[in-house]
Amino acid sequence: MYSDKVMDHFTNPRNVGEIENASGIGEVGNASCGDIMRIYLKIEDNIIKDIKFKTFGCGAAIATSSMVTELVKGKTVEEALEVTNKAVAEALDGLPPIKMHCSNLAADALHAAIKDYQERESRRAS
Ligand code: FES
Repeated sequence: MYSDKVMDHFTNPRNVGEIENASGIGEVGNASCGDIMRIYLKIEDNIIKDIKFKTFGCGAAIATSSMVTELVKGKTVEEALEVTNKAVAEALDGLPPIKMHCSNLAADALHAAIKDYQERESRRAS
């Protein structure tokens, strides 16, 4: 039912944890199941230097969180904003249709964390 990549990221998730003094933090909840994901970003010179996540959710949510951290680490903020929920699911070789909603958390939390970073930056500049 799950691809090898999903199983790999679920059993051995990458970049789990928190970042102290994060540049941006994004949290989203999944209304259909109540699961929650939080993403922490460390951004320097417009590059995502570090990213960590905490997910209170199902296996598919944990696998997609882990994958999204791998996809954007080292990328620019603009490149990270282009990562879609679909791209995360595709990077995992797909998810069962009933679990597609779980993949929404990952990119949404990433985008929320970038938005938080951008708001902090514009407050600092003003
Ligand atoms: Fe909640 Fe998958 S069942 S995120």
